[in-house]
Amino acid sequence: MPHPRSLAAALLAAALAVPAFAANTPGFNYDESKVRAYTLPDPLVRNNGTPVRDAETWRRERRPELLEIHAREIFGRTPGGKPAGLHWAVTSVDRAALGGKAVRKEVTLWFTAAKDGPKAYLLIYQPVAPAGTKPAWPAFLGLNYYGNSSVNADPGITPSAAWMRANAEFGIVKNRVTEATRGKHASRWDVERVVARGYATATLYYGDLCEDRTEGLGGGVAKLFGTAGTEARRGDEWGSIGVWAWGLSRALDYLVADGEIDGTRVAVHGHSRLGKAALWAGAQDERFAFVISNNSGCGGAALERRNFGETVERINRSFPFWFAKNFRAYNGREDSLPVDTHCLIALMAPRPVHVASALADEWADPKGEFLGAKHAEPVYALFGRKGLGVAAQPAVDSPVIGDGLAYHVRTGKHDITPYDWAQYLAHADRVLKKR
Ligand code: GCU
Repeated sequence: MPHPRSLAAALLAAALAVPAFAANTPGFNYDESKVRAYTLPDPLVRNNGTPVRDAETWRRERRPELLEIHAREIFGRTPGGKPAGLHWAVTSVDRAALGGKAVRKEVTLWFTAAKDGPKAYLLIYQPVAPAGTKPAWPAFLGLNYYGNSSVNADPGITPSAAWMRANAEFGIVKNRVTEATRGKHASRWDVERVVARGYATATLYYGDLCEDRTEGLGGGVAKLFGTAGTEARRGDEWGSIGVWAWGLSRALDYLVADGEIDGTRVAVHGHSRLGKAALWAGAQDERFAFVISNNSGCGGAALERRNFGETVERINRSFPFWFAKNFRAYNGREDSLPVDTHCLIALMAPRPVHVASALADEWADPKGEFLGAKHAEPVYALFGRKGLGVAAQPAVDSPVIGDGLAYHVRTGKHDITPYDWAQYLAHADRVLKKR
């Protein structure tokens, strides 16, 4: 007799699996019985064929090999770390924001010594410190899609003046935000809840780093590093996901220096294309203490070898500037990739990773996202961590927070919802809160 909760969950899953809910691109496989057999590369076998049996060998030998493969074949190489000229200015502080419940700070980050080089605007909310205390808050950091003013209706947020992708529903007019954009993505950030729970939350607009269009790789931060543009670049030069990941690390440079934030307890998170960027940022920058992938799909957490939903060929054709040009060599040839997404997730080990799916988001392959996390377990085991600790994908709305790895699939579509935040906060309370 199935447990009533899992029965209800199964019925709900069946109801939601109908195509009416799914924004699935036609012409791709959404039938589990049509997923071809595949063999995953073993993250614990070095390029020279020798096995990795301990954490020390993983760190010294295998982790650098896997980072190199991801850089060369998938995301492109990150041309540099923290630029010498990186500097910032705190441009506004309101210690009674959100009706007195939060402190709001705005910070401009310049990536060169000059003020006319590329720059980004960081928005931070943090709890109000109890009188007489000076806490350093654990924090969430993520990029946003429509500028800082989209993340909360707070009238004090300075709107972005940057180019945005067209979106009438979000009040984007002539590729710029308007007052109608304010708070449009508030449910995706859940700022009040995150702050009430004792965390800071920091964000910047991804287009400040690299515009999400073909021309983007000829401007912004990419230009600073001399990137030749989407088609003119060498095969292993970075794409915009690489630039976004780099920007997350620069925002972390600031957070580490902000005495009111604890730079050793910063979670990096992202949704969809920005979930891919969050994973790549977390893989490269071990200062991120916790990594969250929300519906990151193809090029993110979902195993590429599973022919379910979006494919490597499709993503490279739709977004030729997201990844390295070398990634195009795997169009229709996922089986020849020297890694798969479990290797990307394993690059975080032993730091905690939380992978989340949405049931109706079949394009992102929820089961493939689960398996990306699941197959990272052997690397977590080297560090004495159990990983997810479940054999099969958990039922819908039944999150699993394991030891080092967590996964949930919720009802509904491609999005970040308060339900997702409830899971991230529960996980963060375990791994980022001081005991
Ligand atoms: C497209 C793309 C996905 C991506 C998504 C998003 O659907 O195919 O790979 O994750 O956009 O970023 O919203």
